Amino acid sequence: MSGPPRSTSFRIGEHVIAPGLVLSPMEGVTDLTFRRLVRQIGGVGLTVTEFVPGAAVARGDKKMMQLVEFDTDEWPVSVQLYGKDPRAMAEGAKVIQDMGATFCDINMGCPSKKVCKSSGGSALMKDVETATAIVRAVVAAVDIPVTVKMRSGFDAGRRNAPELAWACQEEGAAAVAIHWRTREDKYSGTRAVDKIAETKAKLSIPVLANGDVVDVESAAAMYRDTDCDGLLIGRGAIRDPWIFRRIEAWMTGQPQPTVDGAEKRRAMLQYVEELRARMSRTFPDTRKLDRAVLGRFKMLTKYFALRQLHEGRVLRQLVLHSQELPVAIEHVEAYFERLVRFEAGDESAFEGYTAPAFSRTG
Ligand SMILES: Cc1cc2nc3c(=O)[nH]c(=O)nc-3n(C[C@H](O)[C@H](O)[C@H](O)COP(=O)(O)O)c2cc1C
Repeated sequence: MSGPPRSTSFRIGEHVIAPGLVLSPMEGVTDLTFRRLVRQIGGVGLTVTEFVPGAAVARGDKKMMQLVEFDTDEWPVSVQLYGKDPRAMAEGAKVIQDMGATFCDINMGCPSKKVCKSSGGSALMKDVETATAIVRAVVAAVDIPVTVKMRSGFDAGRRNAPELAWACQEEGAAAVAIHWRTREDKYSGTRAVDKIAETKAKLSIPVLANGDVVDVESAAAMYRDTDCDGLLIGRGAIRDPWIFRRIEAWMTGQPQPTVDGAEKRRAMLQYVEELRARMSRTFPDTRKLDRAVLGRFKMLTKYFALRQLHEGRVLRQLVLHSQELPVAIEHVEAYFERLVRFEAGDESAFEGYTAPAFSRTG
């Protein structure tokens, strides 16, 4: 494995991001509750909200405003906007500046048909004129630094991240983040980080690298192969919310944190409890609330690092097939009770602990 990067932090405008590790925005995941979990664990230098349309924020859409809310002590924090209309994006940026966001991030990477159809997200990579007009308008509208998140290109024939990132810098962007995949790759493709390295060599603003950083080894490889200023970590943080602490420990020469079953239990249950408390504002009806919370909890569980735990695979199955939130919580409690006994040397703790053969309907 290669050594730590030259610098463990970077600057966006006058703000120091230390450590230089960013929780990548993820729709339906990086809400206030998930970001609290990650911040409380530590090692993250910057958090970003899930994306929202700039136009909806500009008109104060209630649901969208809830998606971009952040804690008063969540700082620095970036709010990500998407859209294709420079004026609406500029208006949206003003609103988030007034909310107290540290940065405004512009999405030019989303591959979803819904977002691209309206020419936002990664479709902007094909339309450099509109993309730069958006950056220009947003930079002119706000005093906070404006950043851009993009992919390496739209498809294999159009990997234009270095050129687009350069144009964004010239329009006043304060940093860019690049996911090595093209829009065509969606979430597959063979690792090719050359365009990130090329962008880093070309630009004077910070260039952040993104895509498949899931542990210390992949973080080291990303720093080595791109010379990037910092990392954006998405799915790796759902799988292992301690990933930032692990990478920070490696960068600063500290011992690796040990995360035992009790810590994972605490993280899972605290997440559900906080999620339920927060979502109760949106869903006054208990049944609807529990259904919504269960949906998000399953999303976390799908990725969460349970596989490494003894019989964690079974717990994952049980939660994913739960029809009611209290049942899912009972499964978590029961599993960790067994784990504590097992870790204390009780070989029989997991006797009879299997996932039933679930039918398709669960
Ligand atoms: C469920 C999910 C939702 C996402 N939502 C967003 C989003 O709102 N804005 C954005 O810029 N990228 C979004 N992404 C992309 C991630 O931020 C990131 O660029 C991508 O997952 C690659 O990084 P990773 O390999 O570390 O996950 C999303 C990804 C996932 C898996």
